[in-house]
This record gives sequence, structure tokens and C-alpha cells, in this order.
Amino acid sequence: VSSTRTAPGSYRALQDLWGSAPALLARLPKGSLVLLDERVAGLHRVLPKAIVRRKPLRIVGLAAGEQAKSLPALGRVLEAASQLPRGATLLCIGGGTLGDLATVAAHLIKRGVELIHMPTTVLAAVDSSVGGKGALHVAAGRWTVKNAAGVFHYARQTWLCPELLETLDPAQLREGAIEAWKMFACLDAGLWRRSRRHRPGMLALIREGRRLKDSVCRRDPYELEGHRRVLNFGHTFGHVLETISRFRLSHGDAVGLGMLCALDVGRRIGITPDRVAREVEVGLDEGPGIMSRSDLARWLRRASTPSIQRLLAADKKAGPDAEMRMVLLHALGRAEVHAVPPRAWRALLPSWRAGGRP
Ligand SMILES: NC(=O)c1ccc[n+]([C@@H]2O[C@H](COP(=O)([O-])OP(=O)(O)OC[C@H]3O[C@@H](n4cnc5c(N)ncnc54)[C@H](O)[C@@H]3O)[C@@H](O)[C@H]2O)c1
Ligand SMILES: [Zn+2]
Repeated sequence: VSSTRTAPGSYRALQDLWGSAPALLARLPKGSLVLLDERVAGLHRVLPKAIVRRKPLRIVGLAAGEQAKSLPALGRVLEAASQLPRGATLLCIGGGTLGDLATVAAHLIKRGVELIHMPTTVLAAVDSSVGGKGALHVAAGRWTVKNAAGVFHYARQTWLCPELLETLDPAQLREGAIEAWKMFACLDAGLWRRSRRHRPGMLALIREGRRLKDSVCRRDPYELEGHRRVLNFGHTFGHVLETISRFRLSHGDAVGLGMLCALDVGRRIGITPDRVAREVEVGLDEGPGIMSRSDLARWLRRASTPSIQRLLAADKKAGPDAEMRMVLLHALGRAEVHAVPPRAWRALLPSWRAGGRP
């Protein structure tokens, strides 16, 4: 006898609902478990009120931030979920860090429960709530390895609520915009050029970013074929920078600087034409706005070359023989994964540490 029902969290097409918070929350199944960013709860009093009306099992208030992607935080959520029946729903209201924690929890609770994301940062709306990935960081010696343990668990729906995004500050808006422009650069040259002429607003960035990311994830829901690796453009050095900064550098800003590194590496090994690298560097600066090369220098000067080497080796895209792989740009809208010999990035380090364009 075969079952036509799909397991909670298995791949499904994107299901986006847009609306006001009370209207969306009225759809919440009774008895759900709700993870709620404490800061967002304080800024938007409408949320706890609307949730309570749906008689949830529990509302777990959590502090957002990279420390939320940890085993202790996961423990808190699993404990709160101990009375949750199979077939129940976990709703996560917050940014990418709580979203990633919720994704891991939804995968583990009762061997998998339905997940609904209600992203409250542009970064989460554009990027992290699409594509089913969630992960925690693992402490390993001196450094914390970013996203070292994770799962694929696709959300049943995403509830998008523009009014919740009104309390984000310019830095938070920029961090989300950087991930959206990353997708334009790697996947859609036409959209990149149009965005250069007329800078898209927040809602357009969210719609286009979700559409592009979904188009990639749909072809390769579990990252078996490599299609979705292009989404990691800027993330190889981005993750290294986040780690070196001990997460004082936000994910979005680290990815912005990581894209500069990827452009330089691409030029160095003859993959990225200089004119493309220049266009993307200027476009990222004038579009979403990225930090400067002197910021890159400041962070890179904090770690020794062997430390950087070790952090790069811990990167999930490193090949079996520990050769490094990076997403590099061939042309606007076209990116591919390439093996990068260590001498390539080592040769660039002195210029990076001096704050110049190699
Ligand atoms: N799973 C994926 O595919 C994926 C993709 C991209 C990024 N990520 C992950 O996402 C994380 C970054 O996400 P993030 O930038 O949303 O971080 P975050 O969740 O820490 O949110 C950033 C800050 O914004 C605050 N905040 C959230 N919503 C707010 C609102 N509406 N108004 C005011 N403040 C608000 C939070 O309290 C927090 O202080 C990283 O850990 C990154 O690895 C995951
Ligand atoms: Zn990212």
C-alpha cells in the first residue's frame, strides 16, 4: 500500500501568503508551538495577542542572534515541544537565526512536524525562509564552525507581512538587500541591469529574491546536483569573516565583503572578466551598499593565514581531497563552482590586508 501523503518537511513548491499579522495568524492551527523573537514581540504587540487567540500549546520567546543557532537553544525548543502531538505545527516568527533554529527543531520534533515561517527581517524574507535549510553552529576548538550541523526541512507555508518589516533599521534592510542582489548577480543579468537603472524597493527585492531562490531550489531541493550551490556566492569568505569577527559582523555584511573576495579570486584564476568584476563591485556599492575594502582589511588582519586556511577547510564546499571550492562569476547572471588552489587566495591576502583592490 503506498501513501500519497508527503512527510512534513519534504520538498514542496513555495506557498506564500501575504497579509496583515492578525489575518495571517487567524490561520494558525490550534495547539501549535510558536517561536517568537522577543524583540519583535516587544515592537509588535499585535503578535502575542493574535497568537493567544489561537490557543497555542506554548509561545517560546527567544533572543535572536547567532547564539540562537546552538544546542542549548535547541534544547529549550525541544523541551517546550515535548507535549506537541504528531501532525502539529511549529510557527517561527523572526529573522534568519530563529528561522534556522526552528527548521532544525521542526525536523526533530516527533521525527518531523509542519513548519510555517513568518519572516521578520528582509534577509529571512528574501533568502533564509526559502529552500528548506536550517543549521546550528558547533564549537570546535578556538572557533565556532558556522552551520556545522543542519537539516533540510521545507516549510508548508511562508506568511509574509510587510508591516512587521517597518521596524527594521537601515543596516538590517541593507543586509537583506545584499542577499537579493547576490542572486541577481549570479542568476539573472536582466534583473541586475534593471535594478542598476531603478533601485528596487524592499517589497520588490523580497518578491524577486524569493522567486529566484525558489527557481534554483526547485531544480535541486536537497543540493544533490550542485545547481543550488551558486547561492553560496560570497559565502566562502563571508563565513570566514563572520567567524573571525566572532559574529560581530552581520551575515549580510560578511557576504557583501565575501563577494568582493570571490570576484578577486575569480579574476586571479582567469574565470571572472575584469569588466564583470568591476560592474558587480560598483553595483553592490551603489545598490544595496556594502562595506568597504578597508573594513575587509580590518577583519582579515585579525586572523593569521593558517587560521584562515583552517576555517576555509571547514567550509562545507571543500572537496573530498580538501581542495577548496568557490562559486565564481563567469559573466553577469552566470556563476559556477570551481576548485581554487590555495596559492590563489594566499596571493591576494597581502592586498586584501592592505585594503586595496588586487
Ligand atoms: N537557511 C538558509 O538558507 C539561510 C540563508 C541565508 C541566511 N541564513 C542565516 O540567517 C541568519 C541571519 O538572519 P538575520 O539577519 O535575519 O538575523 P537575526 O534573526 O539575528 O535578526 C537580526 C536582528 O534583527 C532583529 N529583528 C528581527 N526582526 C525584526 C523586526 N521586524 N524589527 C526590528 N528588529 C528585528 C532580531 O531581533 C536581531 O536582533 C544567519 O545565521 C544566516 O546563516 C540562512
Ligand atoms: Zn547568506
